[in-house]
Amino acid sequence: MCGIVGFVGNQQAAPILLNGLSKLEYRGYDSAGLAVRSGSELAEVVKATGKLKNLREKTNDGYALSGNCGIGHTRWATHGVPSKTNAHPHVSGNCTGSASGAVESDVVGVHNGIIENYQELKDKLIRHGYQFYSDTDTEVVIKLVDYYYKKYKVGPIDALAKTMVRVRGSYALEVMFKDYPDEIYVARKDSPMIIGIADGETYVASDVPAILSYTKHVYYIGNNEMAKLSAGNVVFYNLDGDEVEKDLVEITFSAEAAEKGGYEHFMLKEIHEQPKVIQDTYNAYVKDGDIDFSNVGLTAEDIQAFSNVYIVACGSAWHVGMAAQYVFEDLANLPVRVELASEFRYRKMPLASDGLVVVISQSGETADTLAALREAKSKGLKTLAIVNVVGSSIAREADYVCYTLAGPEISVATTKAYSTQLIVAYLLAMKMGVVRGTLSQDVCSGYLKEIETIPQKIESLLADKERLQWFASKYSNAHDVFFVGRGIDYAIGLEGSLKMKEISYIHSEAYAAGELKHGTISLIEDGTLVIGIATQKELYEKTMSNMVECKARGAYLMGLTTSGHYAMEDTADFVIYIPTIDDHFAGSLSVVPLQLLGYYISVSRGLDVDKPRNLAKSVTVE
Ligand code: AGP
Repeated sequence: MCGIVGFVGNQQAAPILLNGLSKLEYRGYDSAGLAVRSGSELAEVVKATGKLKNLREKTNDGYALSGNCGIGHTRWATHGVPSKTNAHPHVSGNCTGSASGAVESDVVGVHNGIIENYQELKDKLIRHGYQFYSDTDTEVVIKLVDYYYKKYKVGPIDALAKTMVRVRGSYALEVMFKDYPDEIYVARKDSPMIIGIADGETYVASDVPAILSYTKHVYYIGNNEMAKLSAGNVVFYNLDGDEVEKDLVEITFSAEAAEKGGYEHFMLKEIHEQPKVIQDTYNAYVKDGDIDFSNVGLTAEDIQAFSNVYIVACGSAWHVGMAAQYVFEDLANLPVRVELASEFRYRKMPLASDGLVVVISQSGETADTLAALREAKSKGLKTLAIVNVVGSSIAREADYVCYTLAGPEISVATTKAYSTQLIVAYLLAMKMGVVRGTLSQDVCSGYLKEIETIPQKIESLLADKERLQWFASKYSNAHDVFFVGRGIDYAIGLEGSLKMKEISYIHSEAYAAGELKHGTISLIEDGTLVIGIATQKELYEKTMSNMVECKARGAYLMGLTTSGHYAMEDTADFVIYIPTIDDHFAGSLSVVPLQLLGYYISVSRGLDVDKPRNLAKSVTVE
């Protein structure tokens, strides 16, 4: 939620800031703003509502603003409606600027995160004579920095440290002080922030793609840390104001990896990247035909000690857990619970102290998942994260970290990260099965061979995507869609349904097929689209019966099954076949047509596929 950028160096800041924001728009896109200054001149603040192109137009692509030091923000509203007044940057003075945009304020800043005690702080500041022009928590934190800066007559780092002690919540905060030209000060707690360095230039951003076209060398600023940025230099501080040493990390993916590469949308590009990233992720954990988690520090002794598994995640990552639980139970004979992180963190659930908590997250920054991880750790359980973004908060805090090698995922609707998470989950379940003696090495080797076929089988599904495109254009005006399936097929239906609703804005639900008759079937009427997923041999007949029941009530049936089940065409109006594969791994194939269906329906409806309304890629608030 929200993206921040900053630059100080020898070039004009505004075009660089706008370019960085364009790579972060997936984090929020209801308004955007810049503050740019030149030497000891006042900062100029410009804001615009709506997508970033409005701010580009307003600033002539940044060239209307002069200065080599600046900060920028793209917003996903939390406190206060999307509006120019609530857009960042915010200032310590009484408004965000004169007609020219120049602000008299001592402090100007941008923020990603949420300040939980902002009301109490606002009341305190009002008592001290501050006035507020916006509804945001960010204006409060900027004014609090100003308050401590002036009250204690301290430098920026001490003012920030005093602020950090006082605020509750999460923040990646960037501020410029009028008295400190050519410097940007940052503070971080629980919201992502990286700092890039190149010759004589320093960059800040919420995420790596924003600065990749300028530098591949980054620092990860830690929780409860601050930094002072000047041209080509950065100094880190802890809460006591002591300097902290950091290692410079080289990013291994290219700037092109975060570009559309000729595809119309990031989502379509990312769907097509799945064969490669699945292979890359598999190769990271399978060495010489054997599953190897030694680079994660997960030993056979560790695995033997776990009595059960709790999988905790949000959204699509939770759906991965829903699919993976069947594989864990069957292959490792382990009791598994799959929990929504937002529920898990507040439940008074008795947890087995020798249980393993597996958190799954693409961004590694999802607030609820991070909180669930901390909750599990505080209760003494071991935690394992399946995570995509290197250096993210979840990756830093989990006991074991299994990275997915999906590369940067830009589209808000996840596809390739989801698919790589599934692969890691399979391998983990199989490794646990082998160590616990519930899966023989021979059977495990056979399963590995099956998984190795997934990339090529996805290629064949992608080669046949026109059929889905045709079907999507026919059904793009559907009002309600129901996805039904059993076991793993049910879990895949959950993901298909989310893909449909989040980017197509069509109401859809996924049901365990056997549950339909307990209420939902009353919603089926003439022409209702029902998508029946039946890839699991043992459950095929049962799901077919449920599909027939829907048809009898007027449903238009789309079937999704494994090659060979051609009899499905006798019942369903339209059938998609996936290549044959061992049932445990069928979800890796069956999800692909459902991703494509969501994508093409969104395109047919003329919607913004990569940036659906009201959503943000990384949900760093509760
Ligand atoms: C899926 O398409 C969504 N973007 C969303 O459900 C996402 O999976 C969820 O917010 C979890 O995000 P994470 O993987 O970054 O933790």
